[in-house]
Amino acid sequence: MPDEPLLPSTPPAPPRLETTRLVLRPFALTDATEVRRLAGEYAIADTTLTIPHPYPEGAAEAWIATHAPKFASGEQVNCAITLRDGGALLGAVGLTVLRPHARAALGYWIGVTFWGHGYCTEAARALVGYGFGVLGLERIEAEHFARNPASGRVMQKLGMRYEAALRARHFKWGRPEDDVVYSILRGEWPGGFERLGDRFDDGRSRGGELQPA
Ligand SMILES: CC(C)(COP(=O)(O)OP(=O)(O)OC[C@H]1O[C@@H](n2cnc3c(N)ncnc32)[C@H](O)[C@@H]1OP(=O)(O)O)[C@@H](O)C(=O)NCCC(=O)NCCS
Repeated sequence: MPDEPLLPSTPPAPPRLETTRLVLRPFALTDATEVRRLAGEYAIADTTLTIPHPYPEGAAEAWIATHAPKFASGEQVNCAITLRDGGALLGAVGLTVLRPHARAALGYWIGVTFWGHGYCTEAARALVGYGFGVLGLERIEAEHFARNPASGRVMQKLGMRYEAALRARHFKWGRPEDDVVYSILRGEWPGGFERLGDRFDDGRSRGGELQPA
């Protein structure tokens, strides 16, 4: 008997997911300038683990260049979060996948001027649906710095369950950070993407269609 989960093979192309207000699509090198402008804000680097500050020239291009090979190897799914209306880039959402354990870590950031409109929740909901529905994952987890409750609220709105508070879990800019861990299991996800809007809707984001490319 195999001791690793049988997952569907990695899809041939990264997803394009449409929600009521958003289109999640692969990043292109032409997004690099905007990625640097948005992710270059201090407030984005401050509560994330790997985003540098100041954001070096060329770093966005280098990051985007990793996406295709990491998708092909089944390690990562990275999506640009864009507005359906006009196509503006709002941020990023991604899954880092551990296929032998059928689990992934969810990560995201949204440009500061776009905070507080439910965009992160709407985007992450689509990608979590893709993770369970298309990648066949059993568990999706996420963690945030304890001093970043907005991110925790996103996890709660996704229907994730609080698991643990981990003290001094990471060092950020030379200082220890406490982390809070959330997760959701396949069996806890309502399934159909359309239904998610009903169950978790906060009144501002309303699900949408799951459209794997
Ligand atoms: C975390 C982040 C992605 C949220 O993006 P967003 O689009 O504003 O998120 P949403 O609008 O979907 O949801 C935010 C929720 O947090 C709540 N919130 C905001 N500030 C809060 C605070 N200080 N305490 C508690 N809740 C807070 C909002 O009210 C909202 O909840 P509500 O809908 O119940 O009112 C964004 O703040 C960000 O990019 N931060 C910097 C990068 C980062 O921290 N990434 C996550 C790393 S774990």
